[in-house]
Amino acid sequence: MPKLQNKSALVTGGARGIGEAIARCFAKEGAMVVIGDVDAENGTRVASEIGGTFVALDVSSEEDWNNLAKQQPGIDIVVNNAGITGFEDSPGPHDPENATLAEWHRVHAINLDGTFLGCRYAIKAMRAKKAGSIINMSSRSGLVGIPGAAAYASSKAAIRNHTKSVALYCAGQGLKIRCNSIHPAAIMTPMWEALIGDGPDRAARMAAMVADTPLKRFGTVEEVAAIALMLASDDATYMTGSEVHLDGGLLAGSSASPGD
Ligand SMILES: NC(=O)c1ccc[n+]([C@@H]2O[C@H](COP(=O)([O-])OP(=O)(O)OC[C@H]3O[C@@H](n4cnc5c(N)ncnc54)[C@H](O)[C@@H]3O)[C@@H](O)[C@H]2O)c1
Repeated sequence: MPKLQNKSALVTGGARGIGEAIARCFAKEGAMVVIGDVDAENGTRVASEIGGTFVALDVSSEEDWNNLAKQQPGIDIVVNNAGITGFEDSPGPHDPENATLAEWHRVHAINLDGTFLGCRYAIKAMRAKKAGSIINMSSRSGLVGIPGAAAYASSKAAIRNHTKSVALYCAGQGLKIRCNSIHPAAIMTPMWEALIGDGPDRAARMAAMVADTPLKRFGTVEEVAAIALMLASDDATYMTGSEVHLDGGLLAGSSASPGD
């Protein structure tokens, strides 16, 4: 029995990477999937391949969300996945001393404002059924400091906290609308390409990036989609305000462990 039969799901940033894998997984499990993205070319292609629909959606635009709400007034599942590191538009630096205010604002506008607007849309669109699942894509970077990507880390930490506010608000309203966050560490997607490059040292750079990860590898988009599916489905009806770490064991210990 497919786990998302008769459910409708919006996946933001579903045109590629983690969002694409979630969209494909949800469709395979019977959901009617709406992909919301700024990348119309890939978004339309993925949507047609999975029998879903594409909507042009800049998650930082309140107007775009209002338009989506008119098109899709009811929804069962919303995955607020769209996000940027800041390196897409500017090589940086993105550290606390040298990042520009404009870069700081842009990262927060997409990652944090986008998630706020997505949660607000979701609550209103789930009210009729008084039930639903909201999944916010935070990051391992929302749990620890990242000096080289300060705005990204700040935005992801705020997403973690807002997830809990949404969960408590919905529960307090007597709604069965659950809200949880996922915290992946390094997952191999196009987001990493700018950081890894395609030079002769690509393999060495990739290995260096996961050298501290106990499982010694990048995670896959399918591994993130499997967790999103669990949170979206009725397998997780007692989970709200929770955070799922998906990091190959990175946060399980500390390099300062006594006895090393
Ligand atoms: N890849 C990782 O290692 C990793 C780790 C932790 C968290 N995450 C988070 O997972 C999410 C997806 O990451 P990914 O690696 O698949 O990234 P990606 O860059 O491969 O894909 C991001 C998608 O979001 C879309 N997008 C960007 N700005 C948008 C906007 N304003 N409105 C709507 N769509 C927009 C892009 O077009 C793209 O389709 C992000 O929130 C990211 O921060 C990724």
